[in-house]
Amino acid sequence: MAGDKSLFSTPTVRHATSRDYDDVYEPAEDSFLMLDALEQELDVLRSMKPTVCVEVGCGSGVCITFLARLLGPQAFCLCTDINPKAADFARRTGRENNVLIHPVLCDLCGAVEYRLQGQVDVLLFNPPYVVTPSSEVSSGGIEASWAGGVKGREVTDRLLPRVGRLLSPRGVFYLIVLRENVVEEIETAMKHQGFTMTTVITRKAGREHLSVVKFHRVR
Ligand SMILES: C[S@@+](CC[C@H](N)C(=O)[O-])C[C@H]1O[C@@H](n2cnc3c(N)ncnc32)[C@H](O)[C@@H]1O
Repeated sequence: MAGDKSLFSTPTVRHATSRDYDDVYEPAEDSFLMLDALEQELDVLRSMKPTVCVEVGCGSGVCITFLARLLGPQAFCLCTDINPKAADFARRTGRENNVLIHPVLCDLCGAVEYRLQGQVDVLLFNPPYVVTPSSEVSSGGIEASWAGGVKGREVTDRLLPRVGRLLSPRGVFYLIVLRENVVEEIETAMKHQGFTMTTVITRKAGREHLSVVKFHRVR
């Protein structure tokens, strides 16, 4: 489709000031890998006709904005972040790119979890995945963007048990993982909830081996 070309461009963040990235995660290789995975999944996603999409930990909002643009206005797109400056930045990113996204300030999806039970068709998470001391996790500031604690999984591991309750029967979950996160353990934890895992895309970015993995219910 000729008109589709602009859909795949990275959402603009030209509204960012030089100081915004002191407080908010600047889109980087991991963010772009998620965009590439979503582009690769376009046909699958469009054929699902998702009505509710959620990104946990939206940062600048480029991923949920990209998804909103791919899916069009019939998909209600909501995102969360623990960092108030990220939630505000994401709101501006949506506006600059002419899509409606709805940032919510909360831990993981705590503020919306009850209402969204069984409703989420597409869930995204590019978590803080770097292996760090546990004391650096969940500060709410810029360190919350990368500090993942033990195995880089402390934040991811808190979201995993909630995924089954959030997703609709046909819902899918896209997660960024680093090799050090021991993805086999994530796969096992999700298998216990009835999900199967596939790898959508893998890339080496500097010293990081990153992948986007996808979970859907075993039918
Ligand atoms: C690696 S950054 C990804 C940002 C953006 N999604 C992207 O791909 O560019 C991780 C984001 O998760 C947020 N975050 C960390 N812990 C969180 C938590 N417990 N609940 C919600 N958001 C969290 C951080 O503030 C940060 O914006």
